[in-house]
Amino acid sequence: MSNSPKMTRRQFVTVIGAALSSFIGAVIGLPAIGYLLSPALEKQQGESWIPLGPLEKYPINQPTLFTFTRTKKHGWEKTVTSYGVFVLRTSETQVRVFSNVCTHLSCRVNWKPDVQEYICPCHDGHFAIDGSIISGPQPRPLDEYEIKIEDGNLFIFLKET
Ligand code: FES
Repeated sequence: MSNSPKMTRRQFVTVIGAALSSFIGAVIGLPAIGYLLSPALEKQQGESWIPLGPLEKYPINQPTLFTFTRTKKHGWEKTVTSYGVFVLRTSETQVRVFSNVCTHLSCRVNWKPDVQEYICPCHDGHFAIDGSIISGPQPRPLDEYEIKIEDGNLFIFLKET
């Protein structure tokens, strides 16, 4: 006669039932948890080339405002940011692109063709057509974007922070 404890039929059914319940719970529950958590685990691309359209649509020596928005996802939260840039085409093939955000306290500058300056309405900052400082409290020239031209189309490189 053996001394090992014997499992009753009732105990055996209970153990098998618990094991099956756990298995079914894992099969159903893990994908559901993964689905719910996946937005929080997504990585958002922080850099990209933004198309500004055909270069030829921008007049030479006239800063032209181009606006666009970018949507950024942080987990379940979406943030829409609007951007404005001035495209300054200096010849048939040469172009520079400046941010319209003042380098003082981030107000939006406007191009004033009558005086040929970008003017910030907040503290009367004045910038020249090439983004350099003329007068005002701003600490540096307008920020300039890296550009590329592909098949006659202009792109700027945007680094989102
Ligand atoms: S924010 Fe532009 S001059 Fe102050």
